[in-house]
Amino acid sequence: MLVLGVETSCDETAAAIVADGADVRSNIVASQLEHAAYGGVVPELAARKHVEALPWVVDAALSGAGVGWQEVDGIAVTRGPGLVGALLGGWCYARGLARALERPYVGVHHLAAHVHGALMPHLAAGEEVSYPLLALVVSGGHTSLYRLPAPRHFCLLGETRDDAAGEAFDKTAALLGLDYPGGPVIDRLSDRGDPLAVPLPRARLKGPFDFSFSGLKTAVRRQALSTQIRPGEPDDPRVLDLVASFQAAVVDMLADTTAAALRAHPVRGLVVAGGVAANRSLRNRIGSLAREHGLPLYLAPIDLSTDNAAMVAGWGEARLRAGGADPFDLSAVASWPLGGGDATI
Ligand code: KG4
Ligand code: ZN
Repeated sequence: MLVLGVETSCDETAAAIVADGADVRSNIVASQLEHAAYGGVVPELAARKHVEALPWVVDAALSGAGVGWQEVDGIAVTRGPGLVGALLGGWCYARGLARALERPYVGVHHLAAHVHGALMPHLAAGEEVSYPLLALVVSGGHTSLYRLPAPRHFCLLGETRDDAAGEAFDKTAALLGLDYPGGPVIDRLSDRGDPLAVPLPRARLKGPFDFSFSGLKTAVRRQALSTQIRPGEPDDPRVLDLVASFQAAVVDMLADTTAAALRAHPVRGLVVAGGVAANRSLRNRIGSLAREHGLPLYLAPIDLSTDNAAMVAGWGEARLRAGGADPFDLSAVASWPLGGGDATI
């Protein structure tokens, strides 16, 4: 089955063609660079830019896959969670296409799609994925640990109490006057700094699998003030040491909490998904953790880790194949809890 995926939950306008849930035929992502000037995503601007980009991004996905409109069997589009104005652009566009082409459409959960994105290369290679799985989802808006007892079942084990991991990267970069998005910038600059140079706190919470990054952010701000770091000086050795120490603290918190969850909940595979899964230091640490536990690691290549529509098309395919089209009176949703029990989505 050939599925067209559409994703507009934040600041990436994305479209993709995926065959049979995992075979990526095209994967087009247009990142909105306009937000860099503001140090963060401006929701109204994101919504307008999606509407402008969608026609050519979808055309590029079709032509990249060598697929004509009539060959599309179904459409999967991110329904939530995300910025509602941004979501609505992709949502209305995808449903309009579904109507015009007389094809079924499904609205999918962005975080569930991220988890599927990490599994896709393995599924495409014909590997058997054994459950239960533990999934660490780390993005700009979410940081959560899920146990998946079976395919499409999510149980929430813990989540962030304040900022998401990606948000912490972005805000730390912004406070040091570095470029947006901050994650890739800090990842790169950290190579030149000493991760042990600045002692920074690692939050420990009552919920054993919960996360908190706001104290760390405050500690970075204090350090920047006390050492009189000037904003926008990425080559200052004090900045390099501070970002390397910040990244080490985030990676420690993510990896240590994941290790605790692995000890408490024996599983047969480990998934790391979402934009922050692109971080090289986190990839190394989680790789070692999976090896220590003798577990297969499902970690997507970068283009399937950060926001994309291939994961959306892949995740939506099973529901479309089963004939489960969504009704046209459904709406996009800004907030959509995942895994409050053994829910099947
Ligand atoms: O999943 P994603 O693309 O969008 C959301 O659903 O939020 O995640 C975006 C986040 C941003 O906060 C960005 O700074 C972060 O992922 N990110 C990274 C890296 N690449 C992207 N964080 C750390 N290291 C990276 N290499
Ligand atoms: Zn995402």
